[in-house]
Amino acid sequence: MPLSETLKELMKHFQFNFQTTLQTKLPPNIQSLIEAAEQIAHKAYAPYSHFKVGAAVLLHDGNLLTGCNHENAAYPAGVCAERAALSSLDMSNGKQTVLAIAVTYLSHDLLPKPISPCGICRQTILEVQQWQNKPIAVYMCAPDGTIIVVDDAQYLLPFSFGSEYLDMPPDSH
Ligand code: THU
Repeated sequence: MPLSETLKELMKHFQFNFQTTLQTKLPPNIQSLIEAAEQIAHKAYAPYSHFKVGAAVLLHDGNLLTGCNHENAAYPAGVCAERAALSSLDMSNGKQTVLAIAVTYLSHDLLPKPISPCGICRQTILEVQQWQNKPIAVYMCAPDGTIIVVDDAQYLLPFSFGSEYLDMPPDSH
């Protein structure tokens, strides 16, 4: 049997649902979340890329956490907006949980296209999701109001690495 046929037999598929929508069609609390992300993007420190990103995190009690990208002359020392926003999440106990994160950027000359979190941020969002054991919806936004939504962050990082590979699970809460 040719190699390609063998591989076909072993083939498995990964599928997930996502929605494309417009900001104006979303519920008011999600619209406010996206507006908060846009507002904080104005405070981004991005002198190298000139790409200003904002993220807002919706907590179960309706409160928001926000963050923007913070670059550095030593490039890898820079922090993305998503991680800046999540860094102030209180993970000392299980009382604060995350329902959703919205990410957007300030418009520039390129075509508008919903922003997509980088791999490190996906890993970070997933850490929180696994810790709280509840899905986090991700709203990936463009300045023109076009949005891609996934209702579970795990879809953004298949075959992810998590605490299950380690001897010690994260401290329980
Ligand atoms: N950036 C974010 O803050 N979030 C993303 O989802 C993608 C990229 C930042 C990192 C860097 O400061 C700039 O955008 C260009 O990569």
